[in-house]
Amino acid sequence: MSRSSPRVGLTHIDLGDDLRGNMAEEIRAGLTDEPKWIASKYFYDERGSKLFEQITALPEYYLTRAETRILERASDSIVTAAQPDELVELGSGFSRKTRLLLEAMQRLQVGYRYLPLDVSEEALLTASKSLARDYPWLEIVGVVGDFMSHLEDIPRDGTQLLCFLGSTVGNLDPDERAAFYRRVSARLEQRDRFLVGFDLVKDKRVLESAYNDSRGITAEFNRNILLVINREFAGNLPVDEFEHVARYVDERDRIEMWLRARRAIHARLDHLDLEVSLCAGEAIRTEISSKFTRDRAERELSAADLTIERWLTDEQCRFALATVAPGDRRQGE
Ligand code: SAH
Ligand code: AVI
Repeated sequence: MSRSSPRVGLTHIDLGDDLRGNMAEEIRAGLTDEPKWIASKYFYDERGSKLFEQITALPEYYLTRAETRILERASDSIVTAAQPDELVELGSGFSRKTRLLLEAMQRLQVGYRYLPLDVSEEALLTASKSLARDYPWLEIVGVVGDFMSHLEDIPRDGTQLLCFLGSTVGNLDPDERAAFYRRVSARLEQRDRFLVGFDLVKDKRVLESAYNDSRGITAEFNRNILLVINREFAGNLPVDEFEHVARYVDERDRIEMWLRARRAIHARLDHLDLEVSLCAGEAIRTEISSKFTRDRAERELSAADLTIERWLTDEQCRFALATVAPGDRRQGE
């Protein structure tokens, strides 16, 4: 389905029906597995996207500020080197940090089109309208979709800079990341570049406090996933009976977020005809957030024939932004 809104110069390609179809299958698979899990992309309804925005401003959540610092410093050189006709962004949310790249494009008079892709239609529309107001020269084509399955549906008209900010790549498990990098590699043309943010391995206390903030916003964000499921599937999961748990798992270099039942729970999702029972203390995994070293990022990317060109970090080496090129094995294809 395609519709356009001439007032803001926004074309919106909606792949949402496909997404909703998969959700039922995925929620059933996760809630009948051992241990139970829910895919983290389901955090992001309108409330979830707004809660994530609040997280980015929390004193403990350094990731967004660190990546912003890198973009403030390096956007001009990134755009100069990549010379994109189009900026594509995966998991764009409210596209706040993207503005630094768009402003570099404006200053340098490079590129004319922005293609954000996100599962959150609300965030995508809000961001696109606001960008259309602030950058009247910019064409915007929003895509409601899943970056794991809809990469190939993103339109192309020229050289692209494909951005994936925020360390959202860390929310994929290693197998998903490998599959995702292969698709990115297949999509990139020789002159395209991939710009990807990585949260770096650091002191466990700093990491754990970023996901256990003192205001409890991350806990609300975590529990929001159950509100989404209750709404979508006419469920009665008792949201307040789940406790937020976020801990760093050293062996896997990742934060894991869970929702732990405070008591035995018997709930039902009517639209899935599914009974969901948890013992007291049993938990549902809702997110992994992997942390990286340059070595780990390099190894994983090179397995998909992608090569890091630049590795930019903030002053405290908390976060890295990598510019990545398609590798040599593709030449002559
Ligand atoms: N890029 C922004 C937002 C990060 S939050 C930043 O760096 O601050 C993660 C974003 O990715 C959310 O907007 C969420 O809706 C989106 N998202 C999560 N999983 C997704 C998926 N599988 N496909 C597309 N978008 C996804
Ligand atoms: C979007 N993503 C990179 C965030 C993260 O840090 O893994 C989501 C988040 N979860 C809890 N706080 C923030």
